[in-house]
Amino acid sequence: MGDKLFLTGGKRLQGEVRASGAKNAALPIINAAILAKGETQLDDIPDLRDVFHLQQILESMGVGVAYDQGTMTINPEKAHFAEPPYELVRKLRASYYLLGVLLARNGEARIALPGGCAIGNRPIDLHLKGFKALGADVHLDHGVVEVKAKRKLKGAKIYLDYPSVGATVNIMLAASRAEGQTVIENAAREPEIIDLANMLTVMGARIKGVGTDIVKVEGVDQLSSTQHRIIPDRIESGSYMIAAAATRGDVYVRNSLCEHLKSLLAKLKEMGVKIEEDIEGVRVTAPNSLKGIDVKTLPHPGFPTDLQPQMMALLTQAEEGTSLVIETVFENRFMHVDELKRMGADIKLDGRGAIVKPSRLSGAKVWATDLRAGVAMIIAGLAAEGETQINDFFHVERGYEKIEEKFKGLGADLHLE
Ligand code: EPZ
Repeated sequence: MGDKLFLTGGKRLQGEVRASGAKNAALPIINAAILAKGETQLDDIPDLRDVFHLQQILESMGVGVAYDQGTMTINPEKAHFAEPPYELVRKLRASYYLLGVLLARNGEARIALPGGCAIGNRPIDLHLKGFKALGADVHLDHGVVEVKAKRKLKGAKIYLDYPSVGATVNIMLAASRAEGQTVIENAAREPEIIDLANMLTVMGARIKGVGTDIVKVEGVDQLSSTQHRIIPDRIESGSYMIAAAATRGDVYVRNSLCEHLKSLLAKLKEMGVKIEEDIEGVRVTAPNSLKGIDVKTLPHPGFPTDLQPQMMALLTQAEEGTSLVIETVFENRFMHVDELKRMGADIKLDGRGAIVKPSRLSGAKVWATDLRAGVAMIIAGLAAEGETQINDFFHVERGYEKIEEKFKGLGADLHLE
């Protein structure tokens, strides 16, 4: 692991790369394993900093966790569930899933408000609204959230003002062992939520409607341990596809589920990129000239905000026409714009919109301001002339497994220091 990535642009990416298990499915699913009686086995868990930090948090509460080559076993039988240290919790936003899990399991939880990427305000009011509706008392004091249920949680109807991924997951987790039925209206529909629901169902939970905007959870008394394989990381796959297009390359991304990537594949096609899908993955072949397009981020199945920075880097490389990028999910997810400009990108920001003009990029010293922005810098650097140095690269290692090795395998000229 290193903190700086150095790369030389101008190489066309070619060959095959495999997408790892999805970070944003693994994090809630690892938490959910605490709800089981006995040992759970999870396969295709990516080897990432976020996963490692979650492992440390669970171990600090006495949960038995072992990780070896993608397989994680989790055993909560000897856990004491004392409040995990803030130093660990603040490193990982997904530590807030412990609120739902511990509320369901022990009827109470105390967790410091989480950290994560600085891409916006990121409140958790909808999570807390859900816990309250289920009958828990919620207190916020000096950045610590305390949830406590005096008696067993009781199913309720909860309308989410926004289809929040985190709130949908947290309410599903808490409701899985509540008394009676919980209905989440305007629920998020992300594939990672479906993966979690699939595992909970095998554990014995009764969940209906995941993948639609109304999710129903009928609580059960006990959940049993299971074995589960994490779905492929659609954001990681998408990032390699975008990188392939930006370098006019020809790349096959194995372990990609096309049905999770529809909005990206449609947009790449609109730009003129050739897409060939099969049961194992997707081949992306880029022509010499790409068209500029408009992209608007939305909750799934809309275009994912987690691919917006990478897409913006690609759009600087469109020869024909100006592009418009509108970010509607997070209010501050344009920090990569200044970094792209350091490389010569012609981008104008106007509120939640960015106008991107065809640009000739040249290598520069830039910063990974967050996880996805860091990958946008790699994509821009690969398309640029000369050397790029990406600082604060640790952000990227939170979410991309073996990124140096994978890009090198496709012919990129880069190294970590
Ligand atoms: C998840 O974050 C992902 N993280 C994010 O991935 C992803 O960008 C995001 O979903 C959207 O797809 C994990 O899965 C661990 P949200 P989450 O709750 O759950 C507002 C990455 O790069 N909101 O759907 O935090 C919020 O401010 C990361 O891998 C409230 O107002 O996202 C935001 O504007 C970054 N109140 C919008 O909803 C709430 O209580 C979407 O947030 C909760 C959210």
